[in-house]
Amino acid sequence: MISSRTVVAIGLGLALCAGLPLQAADGDAEAGKQKKQMCEGCHGIAGYRTAYPVVYSAPKLGGQTVGYLVKSLQDYRDGARKHPSMNGVAASLSEQDMADLAAYYTGAN
Ligand code: HEC
Repeated sequence: MISSRTVVAIGLGLALCAGLPLQAADGDAEAGKQKKQMCEGCHGIAGYRTAYPVVYSAPKLGGQTVGYLVKSLQDYRDGARKHPSMNGVAASLSEQDMADLAAYYTGAN
């Protein structure tokens, strides 16, 4: 005979396994490539070098690590890192968007 307490414990265990996002979203570089249009106006075209450095005044994203890119975007979204443009941009991104964009940019140059 299984006690109701055991049933509750099993149910909770299953709920924990199935429901909670225990790790960060997996990034999809192809999806990120589709989403990066809104970044390019400021961050330039990956791999492109302009003769006028002033055009490249937003930091280069290509080749930075996934962890750094995602953390930066989360910090802008949460206000831990402040910049009016990036706070606005990051607020419009989901965790999946951030993961996808990071996956794309880490492989760009
Ligand atoms: C309106 C211009 C603008 C747009 C659009 C924009 N950015 Fe930025 N971004 C900036 C500027 C300027 C900074 C530097 C801000 C600072 O000093 O904190 C920055 C910083 C960043 C950083 C931190 C880089 C570092 O080296 O610390 C990341 C990551 C980033 N942006 C990602 C993105 C992504 C992804 C998008 C598109 C979804 C995007 N940005 C769109 C202007 C922009």
